[in-house]
Amino acid sequence: MIPLSVPHICGNEIDYVTDAIKTGWVSGAGSYITRFEQDIGKYVKTEEAAAMQSGTAAIHIALLLAGVGCGDEVIVPALTFIAAVNPVRYCGAEPVFMDCDSCLNMDVNKLESFLKYECKRTDKDLINKRSGRRIKAVIVVHVFGNMADMEGLKELAENYNLKLIEDATEAFGTYYNAGRYKGMFAGTIGDYGIYSFNGNKIITTGGGGVLTGRDIQKIKTGRYLAAQAKDDPLFYVHNKIGYNYRMTNLQAALGVAQLENIEKFISIKINNYHLYKKELKDTADMELLDGTVKARNNHWFYALFLKNGRQVRKEWIMKLKDWGIECRPLWKTIHTQRMYKNNQTYHIEKADYYLERVINIPCSTCLRADDIRYVSRRLKELASHCHL
Ligand SMILES: Cc1ncc(COP(=O)(O)O)c(C=O)c1O
Repeated sequence: MIPLSVPHICGNEIDYVTDAIKTGWVSGAGSYITRFEQDIGKYVKTEEAAAMQSGTAAIHIALLLAGVGCGDEVIVPALTFIAAVNPVRYCGAEPVFMDCDSCLNMDVNKLESFLKYECKRTDKDLINKRSGRRIKAVIVVHVFGNMADMEGLKELAENYNLKLIEDATEAFGTYYNAGRYKGMFAGTIGDYGIYSFNGNKIITTGGGGVLTGRDIQKIKTGRYLAAQAKDDPLFYVHNKIGYNYRMTNLQAALGVAQLENIEKFISIKINNYHLYKKELKDTADMELLDGTVKARNNHWFYALFLKNGRQVRKEWIMKLKDWGIECRPLWKTIHTQRMYKNNQTYHIEKADYYLERVINIPCSTCLRADDIRYVSRRLKELASHCHL
C-alpha cells in the first residue's frame, strides 16, 4: 500500500525519546519541552512558542486569548478540517462560514464584502447585522500548506478591529518570499498562529501543537492556561479555569528530533510535487493545484483537481485503493455538518465546486520516485479509460 501521508522517522527520534524516558521526565514538564519551544521559535522567527497537546487545543487557547466568549461570532472557512472550527463552540461562540478561493484558502474578496455590507461598527465592536452578535475574530487556514492571502486578510482584520488567528497546522515551514511579509512564516503574521504535529503533518510529535503570537505576554498566558492555570505549585492555587493541554516531554523529544529534518522534508515535498507535475503534465483535465507564487509553500498535501471529478472521484478513489494507492476526497464542508447546519454562511460556491473535484494523492516524505511514477501511471490509466 502506498499510504497518503505517514511520518518519516529517520533521525535522532529514538535517541531523544529514550533519553527522555531515562530521565524520568515523561509528562508535562521537562527539558525537551523547553528545547522544542525554543527550536520552534527560532525556526519560525518568533519570540514565544507554547507547546500543547494538539493543534486543536492551541486553537482553543488562541480563541480564549483573543477574547472570544459566549455569544460572540468568529468567521471561519467552510472548507477545511473541522478541528479549525469546533474550538469556536468550545468558547460558547458561533462560527460564520466563508467561501474559499482557487487555492482553497479563505476568499478575501468575499470576506471584505461580508464585513462591508453585512456588518456594522459600533464604538468598539463589529456587529453582524443579521444576528446582532459581536464578531470577534477570523480564523484563516493555510490549506495544505499553501499561504493564504495574509496581506489582504491582515489589512481587513486591522480595519475592522478583528483578531486574526492563523491556523497554520498544515503549513509549518511555509513562508513569504516576496511582498509585504517577505521572510515571515505562516503562523507569525496574524495575532495568533497554530501548528499541529499530528502523525500526518510535515513533522510529528505523535500528537501535539504549538501556539505562537505577536504578543509575548499573551503566549505566556496561553502556556499557563494550558498547564491548569496553576498559580502556586505547592499549595495548588488557581485563579483561572485552566486546561490539561500541555505537551509532554516524550512528545517534545520526538519533536526536537523531527525538527532537525524540517528543511530536508520540505525539499522532498517540493521535489515530489514537481515530479508529480511532470508525470501528469500531458493528461487532459487533471492538474495539481498551485499555491500562491509569493511564498515558499511547504507542499504538505498535494491536491489533484479533476475537471469531471464530480462524476468520477468516488470511483477513482476506490479503484486506486484496489491498486494499493491511498487517496482521499476533501472534507465534507463544515456548514453542512449536522452541528453547524443552522449557522450563517456567506455565498459559498467555490468550496462546493472544489469539494466535488479535488482528491489528495500520496505525499509522504518517504515516497520514492518510483512510487510517484506508479501513482501517476495509474491516474493516467484512469483518465484514459473514462472520458473526463
Ligand atoms: C486545518 C486543521 N486545523 C486543525 C487541526 C487540528 O490539529 P490537531 O490534530 O493537532 O489537533 C488540523 C489537523 O489535524 C488541521 O488540518
